[in-house]
Amino acid sequence: MVAAAKGFILALGVFTLAEAQGAAVAAPAKERAMALWARSCALCHIDGNAGAPRVGQAEEWGPRLAQGRETLLKHTVEGLNNMPPLGYCMACERDDFLVMIDFMTANLEAAPAGSTP
Ligand code: HEC
Repeated sequence: MVAAAKGFILALGVFTLAEAQGAAVAAPAKERAMALWARSCALCHIDGNAGAPRVGQAEEWGPRLAQGRETLLKHTVEGLNNMPPLGYCMACERDDFLVMIDFMTANLEAAPAGSTP
């Protein structure tokens, strides 16, 4: 419960940062997708639970991004190993997933030393 709350607060912080940097996606669509992201994907993709690539981490997303956005979308919908189909988001639509994928792979940064789980 505490971890989930922490993840949610972190997600809101990241969201605000992403907003400030200006997004290409229309604000209401992005807001919807990010609210869904905070409820589903944040669970695993903030702390790297179950081996999930952490939001904004270059080393973890780089090789995945190289597969292309369509493959990332396909794996989000169909699932991949410990990544559950639809990322546990039944309400999410294709466009929501694309916003989420762009959000998690934008502004990639190298992880600070020793932060790998
Ligand atoms: C239960 C934990 C969990 C949740 C919830 C979750 N993911 Fe994942 N996700 C994972 C794990 C674990 C992987 C790594 C899978 C692998 O490569 O073996 C992953 C990988 C991914 C990838 C990369 C796929 C690839 O081809 O490399 C994308 C994109 C992704 N998740 C998107 C999402 C989105 C969007 C959501 C929310 C709708 C979400 N995930 C929710 C655990 C989760």
